[in-house]
Amino acid sequence: MKTPIIAPSILAADFANLQNAAEMLNESQADWFHIDVMDGVFVPNISFGMPVIKAIKKHAKKPFDVHLMITQPERYIEDFKNAGADILTVHLEASPHLHRTVQEIKNHGMKAGVSINPHTSVELLRDILPDLDLVLIMSVNPGFGGQKFIENTFNKVRTLRAMADELNPNLIIEIDGGVNDKNAPDLVNAGANALVAGSFVFKSNDPRQTIANLKNQ
Ligand code: DX5
Ligand code: ZN
Repeated sequence: MKTPIIAPSILAADFANLQNAAEMLNESQADWFHIDVMDGVFVPNISFGMPVIKAIKKHAKKPFDVHLMITQPERYIEDFKNAGADILTVHLEASPHLHRTVQEIKNHGMKAGVSINPHTSVELLRDILPDLDLVLIMSVNPGFGGQKFIENTFNKVRTLRAMADELNPNLIIEIDGGVNDKNAPDLVNAGANALVAGSFVFKSNDPRQTIANLKNQ
């Protein structure tokens, strides 16, 4: 089985000790920092914005995978670049001019991702797929960490991987929400190659070991 990219979500870290969280991730086998931005409009929760991302960036030695759960994400592309984003992912459901937004992200020197909610069909990505570096499939309803994984995600991953084989073989398929050591191997077998994990990593007794276990299952 191929080794997945592991992107622990800072959302589940202790916000009073983000420097500690960054140092732990630097020393771990994590590949990326997953950074969840929520605006209280697109999702029913507010997390944090650019100043917090900049503060974490000072201590981080790995790429920032920034997941925007906000309306009108096109308004903030440059701000997130300046805050330290390396990969910028917007939601299909929040972006009526998705093609333009994706090009803008790339023009700013970032990798471009599109995320879809659990009810959104992967078929809606067909025409934008060749332009994308990454698709983030939500395996819970976005807004909160610690929710239960939705099993239909496996079908979505298989369908999307088949589409990507045809249209964009280098596509990264990232799964976000309720990922743990039980579903991770099946997700990778279904065609996912990046896994986000929040609670499973940060609420474990030994986050570094938990990351290593997810990576080397
Ligand atoms: C949810 C966020 C996720 C969240 C995952 O809206 O997009 O990245 O942090 O947390 P867990 O792994 O706890 O489901
Ligand atoms: Zn996320």
